[in-house]
Formats: sequence, structure tokens, C-alpha cells
Amino acid sequence: HVYTDYFFNESAYDYHDGGYVPLEKHDAPESKLNIPELLKPDKVEGNDVWYTVEAQPGETQILPGEPTKTWGYNQSLLGKTIIYEDGKNYHVTLKNSLPELTTYHWHGLDVSGPYIDGGCHAPVYPGEAKEIEFPIHQPAATTWLHAHPCPLTGWDVWHGLACAVVVKDQHEATLPLPRNYGVDDLPVILQDRRFDEHNQWNYDDDYDPDGTAGPTALINGTVNPYFDVTTQKLRLRFLDGSNRREWRLHLSDDMVMTQIASDGGLLPEPVYLTKLMMTCAERTEVVLDFGKYKPGDEVTLYSDDTPILKFKIHEFATDDTEIPDHLADVEYPDPDKDALVHQVVMSGTDEEVQINGKKFGMMRIDDRQELGKSEYWDITNTNDCCGGMIHPYHSHGGQFMVVSRNGKAPYPNERGYKDTIGVNAGETVRVKMKFNLPGVFMYHCHIIEHEDGGMMAQLQVYTKDDPHKKYKLMDMKTL
Ligand code: C2O
Ligand code: CU
Ligand code: CU
Repeated sequence: HVYTDYFFNESAYDYHDGGYVPLEKHDAPESKLNIPELLKPDKVEGNDVWYTVEAQPGETQILPGEPTKTWGYNQSLLGKTIIYEDGKNYHVTLKNSLPELTTYHWHGLDVSGPYIDGGCHAPVYPGEAKEIEFPIHQPAATTWLHAHPCPLTGWDVWHGLACAVVVKDQHEATLPLPRNYGVDDLPVILQDRRFDEHNQWNYDDDYDPDGTAGPTALINGTVNPYFDVTTQKLRLRFLDGSNRREWRLHLSDDMVMTQIASDGGLLPEPVYLTKLMMTCAERTEVVLDFGKYKPGDEVTLYSDDTPILKFKIHEFATDDTEIPDHLADVEYPDPDKDALVHQVVMSGTDEEVQINGKKFGMMRIDDRQELGKSEYWDITNTNDCCGGMIHPYHSHGGQFMVVSRNGKAPYPNERGYKDTIGVNAGETVRVKMKFNLPGVFMYHCHIIEHEDGGMMAQLQVYTKDDPHKKYKLMDMKTL
């Protein structure tokens, strides 16, 4: 079966937003899609691996003419791709060479909060370096690293502080899937910016409290990119790394995408679709099969009607491996019958955004959950007036499973582990969530200006033996 719709409710798509900025094809010449290099470890000793992640300012030649002032991790824009392997232990030096404080948030990694997780309580000041250490215990997935200083996450990410973080495991390694990085397996980071006449980005000029957007698609930091296809099958790891934009992806000839993974790893079985909508911070992995194309052909990826990435087909060897019907065992414990149901009500737009009637308080713990226990969370979006808007809800602290949307079955491609879920206007999405590590974790809308604007809260995951453990939480004033 091939699905041919975006699943979400069209009435709330971002193009109904009064401040909507449509994508427009930039008149710059086409250029080769940037494939970020892999970050090299500083040292490997048995099961222990050391990395350095340096946030740095720089200049990037994106358009002909003046370079753009940008920020990045270990490079001038975005960052080198980081690989983590399930079962290994990591020591990461977080170095800040920016002129201001930042944080390093591991979006989608199962790490403890609030310091290793890297939300607002873990600032690294300019000129400083901090080492964190954590083991990786989770399935193969495409996760990401981004800055998360509250309330300047939008500012930091807009400047370029985001990169792909790929988790590998032994199960995924046995499947017949493309995994030759940069050749048939690539991160595709979807972002949008506005370039001024000097090729610069001006966040404050483009700022919109309902989410900052620009008309030019920026794919892995490339404008008008193309990719040379040299294999029959190509695995794309899409990441919606934009502050606000929803991407409605489809290909020329209505080419079928085989979705194999969502945020937290492989789906139980592949889902075949011709249309794929992604809301902010979501990841999907798809495999494209160019079997019916010949050298010289081109396939174009669009978001709505705007071409955003071109695939130029070259000679390739025939590949008749088949994607297995069963990809992974996706299991999640059910909550106890009498377990409490957590409530998250996202309301308001612009400056009025809130969760459960409150704006974010850095020092306030809004909810609590015991370590290791699965519980239901009901996530409601009250913005159903006039079509409303979709809020992409995200929880730190691991992965959840979608149980239902307004009591109905989840979409076919959200039967895997998720950490971010687009909630339609007027909808309640029920998820079950279990935390594997203790700490204080944030949960919020991932339209980044909503998160910065206060549509965010935090919970304490506690252990039975120390239920009221005190964490040192930052406060706006102490920052
Ligand atoms: Cu992608 Cu609170 O983060
Ligand atoms: Cu996160
Ligand atoms: Cu929102």
C-alpha cells in the first residue's frame, strides 16, 4: 500500500498563518549538496570514546559574492556529523568559542537531565570548555544536537547551531539498508533563511513570535543543491531543523519514499508514501530506489511547489536487495491501570503562548514522574480557532510511543519511537512515556519561538530513594 496524503489536518498547515513566508526558489546557481564531514574522535580506548564539540563563529560561502556570517559546531555552519554507538561510553568536551553563552542539547538522546541533556540549565560561557560523560543505550536513530539557551534557542539555531547525531547499533547493522555515509546514506537538514543584499541573515528583522522563517530553502546549508546519485538506493535522514517551517515533501513523478525510521529509530515495518510532512525537530529516514532511472535523469524533491533538492542520476550497479517487511521490534511498556495521566495543554499564539496556563519558569518543576515507570501523557492543542496551528510537541529525556490522536489510531508512519509529535489544532495526542534516567527535563513546543516565548515546562524524573532530590537550576537572573 502506498499512502498519498500528508495525514495532518490541512486547515492548520503553516501556510494559513498570517505571517507565513512562502518558499521561493533563489536565483543563485545550483551547487553540490554539502555533506557534513564525520566528527573524528580525539581518542578511543576500548569502549570509551572522546570527542570535542566546539561552538564557533565563522563565515560561510553560501551564495556567490559576500560570505554569510554563521555559527557552527567544529565548522563555520551547522556541524560535523557525530556518530554514537549503542553500548559505548562517551566523553564530550563542550567548548564555547562564541562571543556569548550557549548550551549543547542532545535532542533525542537518552541521557540524564538537566546537565548532560544540555537544556537551559547547562550553560557553557564564552571561552569555557566543559566535559560531560555518558553511556549510549538506545536503538540506531537519527538524532541531533542543537543549542538550547533559554530564551535564545531561536537566535542560536538560526545562526547555525544544529547538526546531525547518528546512533548506530548492532541490529540495524545487520539489515540490508544503505549505510555508506555521504554516498548512499546522508543527513538532509531542512532549514530556511532570508538573505539580505549582503548575503547576511538578520534574525531580529525576520523575528516572528509565532516562528521565524525565511523564503530560501537551505539544505545542509546549501542553496539550490543537487546530489550526484551513484547507487540505486539512497537513504535520506531528514531533519526538520528549521525554527518554524513545516516541510511537505514530495518528489517528481510522485516517486515513492520508503520510510524506515522516525525520531527514535526504525519503524516496525516500512511505510510507503509519496507525501511526507515534517514538523519542527522531527526526523524521518526514507530510502529512495532509482531503479527505473538512467544516467542523465533527474529527480527533484519539493516542499509544496518549491524545488529544494535535485538528484542527478549517474551510472549505478543494480541493487536488488529488498527492504525487509519487518525492520525492528518496537516495544513499549503499558502504564499501570490506575497510573496518573499527565496533562499538557498548549494554548495561545504569538506572545500569548503557554502550557497549562503558564509560561515557562526556569526554577519551577511543573510535573513529576518516577524513573522507569511508563505513564500516559495527553498533549492537547487548543488553537482550533480559524484553522488554528499545529504545535510540534517535544519531550526531553528519551522516546515515547504515540497511542492515539483524538482517540483514533496514530498515523501509519508514527508507530515507532518518537520524541517530537505534530499536534493538530483541537487535537489531543495520547502518548506513553517512560524515562530511563533521572533528572529535570524540559518539554515544549518545538516551534522555537514558541519555546523561547514560554510554551515550555519541565518535569522531574525522580527515584524512589531520593524523590525530592534538589538540582541546581538556572534562573534568568543568574545566567
Ligand atoms: Cu530540540 Cu528542548 O529541544
Ligand atoms: Cu530535546
Ligand atoms: Cu507552538
